[in-house]
Amino acid sequence: MKVDVLLGLQWGDEGKGKIVDVLTPKYDIVARFQGGPNAGHTIEFDGYKFILHTIPSGIFNKNTINVIGNGVIIDAYILSKELDNLTAKNIETKDNLFISKKAHLILPSHRLLDAAYEQEKGELKIGSTLKGIGPTYTDKTARNGLRIGDILSTNFKERYDTLKNKHLQILDYFKFDYSNHQLDGDLFDVYEKNWFKALERIKSYKLIDSEYFINKALQDGKSILAEGAQGTLLDLEFGSYPFVTSSNTITAGVCSGLGISPKKVGKVFGIFKAYCTRVGSGPFPTELMDDDGKILRDIGNEYGSTTGRPRRCGWLDIPALKYSIMLDGVDELLMMKADVLSPFDKIKVCTSYKINNQDTEEIPFDGLSQNIEPQYEEVAGWRKDLTQLKNIDKSPEELVSYAKYIEKLVDTPISVISVGPDRQQTLFR
Ligand code: GDP
Ligand code: IMO
Ligand code: MG
Repeated sequence: MKVDVLLGLQWGDEGKGKIVDVLTPKYDIVARFQGGPNAGHTIEFDGYKFILHTIPSGIFNKNTINVIGNGVIIDAYILSKELDNLTAKNIETKDNLFISKKAHLILPSHRLLDAAYEQEKGELKIGSTLKGIGPTYTDKTARNGLRIGDILSTNFKERYDTLKNKHLQILDYFKFDYSNHQLDGDLFDVYEKNWFKALERIKSYKLIDSEYFINKALQDGKSILAEGAQGTLLDLEFGSYPFVTSSNTITAGVCSGLGISPKKVGKVFGIFKAYCTRVGSGPFPTELMDDDGKILRDIGNEYGSTTGRPRRCGWLDIPALKYSIMLDGVDELLMMKADVLSPFDKIKVCTSYKINNQDTEEIPFDGLSQNIEPQYEEVAGWRKDLTQLKNIDKSPEELVSYAKYIEKLVDTPISVISVGPDRQQTLFR
């Protein structure tokens, strides 16, 4: 068996959570391989709405094991609040959530560093979710980090204090007054106390050597789905650097984030919105600052699942989509939020860029300092509500044409069209 992969092809929030939940009944194991609580994955069914940050989106199926892989970074307190939310709705997690011992810990002081670095950057700030992502991955690569397996050791508190004190020295340098700084509404001391309480809770979960677990499961013929967080255009290597996250969000990240060989990667599902959104700073060639952008935001309810910030909205960007498909080796595409385009008579699609009077389909090295003029083609809209559609055969002709048009441009088939946030609002082609 091989590990199938589902990941975002844009700047995140494509609807990964919804689709992983829809696909989960086909899989024995769902595993997150990178990122941390910067992610916000929304799942809606039976009138319930859940937003997961750390826990894989397969958790709603009792028969599926959910693994938080070694490439993920964990804030114990945020994870514990996610567990509370699930428990409150009688979703069982004790037997089907496994956590890699090699996953790194986000310390409360990593979050302070995130805030201090962003403050220091001023106008050039990344627009980070301030969950401590950059500083935690920095400590991981600098070989200072603490991992989930370390919480079982007797000198954990000592090691925690050593790392925290390092962080406090850096904060001192930045003259960052952390005693009054709020972390999701809590002062540092309160947050830290809750964080330690949460660690105790995490100890009662199955802490595993996830690379052995995953590879044994493959040998035993189990089916596995790797769930991406963020999106390809936020990848540390290939995203719009420095306006990126600090992990490898692309298919290659699955190998290091779960401990599987590239030969074990199976089908790659690439998920994209029928338009584009981005939250935080950085280049966004097709961004709309006009009424059309407002319509996309209002109808699409484009506000961050993790931070509540309004998402920037724009038309679909084909050069960017092709770039992601190339990097990820996408086999099948899933087009999300088609229903949001219903108000438009004409839908614009960016098919190339003009940079310094030259036409190109390639993303430039530095998207911010270049004047990128998106070149658009227009296609007919459908002007019909799609949210009640139950069958792809009943969809308006223009929707089918839009899907075929994109398939041709990117030379990859679209297997799913999503027409609403609910599990049921998913059309298979
Ligand atoms: P993720 O981070 O990729 O899992 O995506 P988010 O959950 O952050 O953002 C996607 C948002 O769109 C969520 O609020 C979903 O409930 C919602 N959503 C997903 N698919 C659709 C769809 O086809 N139509 C509409 N209108 N909303 C959708
Ligand atoms: P999901 O998994 C959308 C963005 C932030 C910021 C940049 C760096 O829900 O798709 P970070 O907190 O990682 O230091 O922020 O990346 N970002 C996301 N945008 N969806 C996400 O996750 C994101 N995770 C991070 O807004 O611009
Ligand atoms: Mg999200």
